[in-house]
Amino acid sequence: MHLKKTFVVAILFSVVVVFLQCSKNHLPLPVVPEITVLPQLPAAPFNYIDAYPKFIQDSLAVNDNTPADNGITNDGATLGRVLFYDKHLSKNNTTSCASCHKAETAFSDNAIFSKGFMGGLTTRNSMALLNLRFYKSGKMFWDERAPTLEKLILQPIQNSVELGLTLGELETKVKGLSYYPDLFQKAFGSTQIDSVKIAKAVSQFLRSIVTFKSKYDMVKQGLATFTPDEAAGEQLFLTPPAGAPAGAFFCAGCHTPPMFLTSSPIAPFTHIDANDHGINNENRFKAGSLRNIALTAPYFHNGDMPTLNSLLNSFPVHNVPAPDAAKLLAFLQTLTDNSVTTDPRFSDPFK
Ligand code: HEC
Ligand code: HEC
Repeated sequence: MHLKKTFVVAILFSVVVVFLQCSKNHLPLPVVPEITVLPQLPAAPFNYIDAYPKFIQDSLAVNDNTPADNGITNDGATLGRVLFYDKHLSKNNTTSCASCHKAETAFSDNAIFSKGFMGGLTTRNSMALLNLRFYKSGKMFWDERAPTLEKLILQPIQNSVELGLTLGELETKVKGLSYYPDLFQKAFGSTQIDSVKIAKAVSQFLRSIVTFKSKYDMVKQGLATFTPDEAAGEQLFLTPPAGAPAGAFFCAGCHTPPMFLTSSPIAPFTHIDANDHGINNENRFKAGSLRNIALTAPYFHNGDMPTLNSLLNSFPVHNVPAPDAAKLLAFLQTLTDNSVTTDPRFSDPFK
């Protein structure tokens, strides 16, 4: 009996010794990063304050979720751009916001689920970061769990799959990088760095990403005309189907022009996902702006739909007869604005 106990203790002891030696051999994750590439920025900041066409400006006037204390400035958005693309914002310097929100896919990801800093996968499809300031309630994520954009920004940074830092580590790392004090000075009038300012600057950058140069925008300003299919698709999108009961759901009822967003998802979504029940567990999900939707496949919160065609042949409210689907598709493609995907103001400053 006694011998057995000693044996167990001896084994436990050697396990602990081996464990300690192993962890000694593993290098700790870097806290103050090595500076390798410096961000390349223009001498005078880019202009992030766009003049939108009147019909977009009118929509902004009633929907803008920009808080009074965080309006867009050119220096604030410039700092936000650098932070958005900086891989030092992850635990092991491998991943940035842009790893899952890529400019070429309208700041979404073409993977069903995205890879975080250790190769782990997110549990939802990455969302396109466009026209965020037009979402009136300001709530963010598919399940709207972030009450504002400012409150969202620090969540992926602390998420154990996505970027994996504590707020303390974030502040220490950003303070340790030579290019930040000057950028904070310009953006906030002080070289002092903290996570609240980080969230504010990234929010300014994201709110400045607005699409208003698509064919749809040209048509609305009388500068272009729809093809017959595109025009028929717009009518299908805007009008409840013939013979539908009053109050029936139709595309524009849930995806409202001109930004193709609604302020709050208006109805239980009919596609029940056994693994994910969305907003308040009510099987409701936010849908982001449908602008640039042709660039952001796969679709839905779980990346279930590989193409727009499959989506328009999926579940009630998204299940339309094939001829209508072809016209809706033609119309949805007029919402593509490639200028945001290549705009230097929104591009990677570390390249
Ligand atoms: C590992 C991939 C990954 C990284 C890194 C990542 N995101 Fe995301 N992002 C996602 C996913 C997935 C969602 C949807 C999550 C959900 O709804 O639960 C999302 C959603 C969002 C949304 C919500 C948009 C909306 O319309 O509601 C914003 C804003 C956002 N991310 C910004 C950022 C910022 C800023 C960073 C960097 C600090 C970042 N993300 C880093 C994958 C990522
Ligand atoms: C009852 C409200 C409602 C109606 C009506 C509706 N949608 Fe949706 N739509 C949603 C919701 C909610 C989502 C997000 C669903 C999810 O991720 O599970 C969505 C998602 C989408 C998406 C994919 C968005 C993305 O980022 O993945 C497209 C495209 C789309 N809808 C187009 C349409 C079209 C075209 C119509 C008309 C035929 C339509 N919708 C009708 C509520 C609606």
